[in-house]
Amino acid sequence: MRMLDLILKKRSGGEHDLKELKFIAAGAASGSIPDYQLSAWLMAAFFNPLSKQETVDFTKAMAMSGKKLHLKGLKGGRVDKHSTGGVGDGVSLALAPVVAAAGVIVPMMSGRGLGHTGGTLDKLESVKGFRVRLSADRIYKQLKAVGFSMFGQTAELAPSDRKLYAIRDASCTVESLPLIVASILSKKYAEDLTGLVMDVKYGSGAFLKDFGKSRELAAALVDTAKLLGIRCVAVLTAMEEPLGLAVGNALEMEQAIKILQGEKGPADFLEVLETLSGWMIYLGFRARTPEEGAARARAVIADGSALEKMRRMIRWQGGDTRVADEPEKFLPRARLSAEVKASGPGYLTGMDALTVGRASVVLGAGRARAEDAVDFGAGLMLRKKIGDRLASGEVIAALYASDAARLREGVKMFRSSLKTGSRPPKKVPLIREIIS
Ligand code: URA
Repeated sequence: MRMLDLILKKRSGGEHDLKELKFIAAGAASGSIPDYQLSAWLMAAFFNPLSKQETVDFTKAMAMSGKKLHLKGLKGGRVDKHSTGGVGDGVSLALAPVVAAAGVIVPMMSGRGLGHTGGTLDKLESVKGFRVRLSADRIYKQLKAVGFSMFGQTAELAPSDRKLYAIRDASCTVESLPLIVASILSKKYAEDLTGLVMDVKYGSGAFLKDFGKSRELAAALVDTAKLLGIRCVAVLTAMEEPLGLAVGNALEMEQAIKILQGEKGPADFLEVLETLSGWMIYLGFRARTPEEGAARARAVIADGSALEKMRRMIRWQGGDTRVADEPEKFLPRARLSAEVKASGPGYLTGMDALTVGRASVVLGAGRARAEDAVDFGAGLMLRKKIGDRLASGEVIAALYASDAARLREGVKMFRSSLKTGSRPPKKVPLIREIIS
């Protein structure tokens, strides 16, 4: 087989079979196909999008370019969650222990923060000693003993996606729906899942801002996952303002632990947590309906079993388990802080998620380039959300940084995310649609 022929075929609108797609994925992973040919094929696939069958086959081919996890020996449903990324979206940190406490196996593969969005791995690493690089053998043992594990993508898992994503990024071919679907699902297919819950964000802080486009992606993900034999549901969630009250690694970890300890927590965060856990527990065969799953989630938080799961997971992954009891004492917090206050009475009518995400990067909580280090203790704690009434001088947020210049710049940027008015804004639903 020659790559030249495959480029020609796709350029003229032809359809590939599994063998051809395996050749492309394997060649991308091994380096035997040069970057210029991969980018030419990606551009051809951008203008002549992969069909439904090609998307399924390309997903499989990318998963087969590396090693798969083999989890069939574990009893029960194996369900993961994937979010397209947001600001303050630390839901996974509470979700995985809750769903595991309800009896579902949760192999949770997560990523790092990049740009204005945070990453679960960085949040977990704010716990001293916590390891996210685990071997397949270690993941299996932990799943068997604890019921869940939270880990990073290993070099062997869908390696062609890593290569192809970098080339898509450099050749303006990221925004092809079938390529996005195959990229996301190849990593999930390699995890040997039986179920998957997708949190597809839309709005200012989301990967796809437009609701229609996000909906199209959600439907394609659900369709393709089902054809791959994975029970899948997609929840379309607004990302116009940050989720919850914490934005930043240790701050989000603390928020999640406090919810598991039984604290009330922010309403929007809890709504997403309960909805996603309900579906995961249902897809994992531990509830007859998603509503029953959500009730199970509330029960395992109330009886402390979700917190106990979290403690065991931290111990298994080498972290300091004292954070499960006293997160404010054992998690890092940046040295400097400043408060942003309301300049007059009124209502908070806007808090642009994208700008808040950028402010968190400026404060040190995120990274502008993949090789940057993050400051675990930096970030923001919101005291107000969109729709809240403001009194003059009331604190809207506290900001944390380790460096005075960063703090000044972060305050300036955070202020620019805010809109106030004399009337409360129209309420928009947080969860707009669920595609199952
Ligand atoms: N996330 C992925 O993993 N892949 C894409 O192509 C886009 C978002």
